[in-house]
Amino acid sequence: MNVGRRDFLKISGCAIICTTTGTSLCGAAQPFGVSTTLKAAEESFSLEGNSLVIDLLKNTALKTPGGSVKLSIINNKVITKILVFCSNFGKYKAVPNKCTHGGMELEYKHAEKIIRCVSFGKSEFDLTVKY
Ligand code: FES
Repeated sequence: MNVGRRDFLKISGCAIICTTTGTSLCGAAQPFGVSTTLKAAEESFSLEGNSLVIDLLKNTALKTPGGSVKLSIINNKVITKILVFCSNFGKYKAVPNKCTHGGMELEYKHAEKIIRCVSFGKSEFDLTVKY
């Protein structure tokens, strides 16, 4: 799928705008309770009003189905963690990256079509769940 300069997607009540411009991401080993999902570089996304704008060239994991990134938005000293994943070519979803059980991070499991908590509890969430 070719992503245009700006593709607008309505996801879980918040619009995600994907743009194309630049480079790559890095990931690192994570402590317990933190997912191994690649962390989006701060300069690769922005919050514009009620929309999250993500640069797909800087977040190449999102270019193929099954890919995902996690990001943190700091707004008025409040940190909001978000998990963004590509469920199919051109189809994206963004969900709060916080397990409803105990607040641990989540990971997108493409083959199983679920989101799973990284904690020992391994809570699973249906992709159709509205957050
Ligand atoms: S924190 Fe997710 S299952 Fe407990």
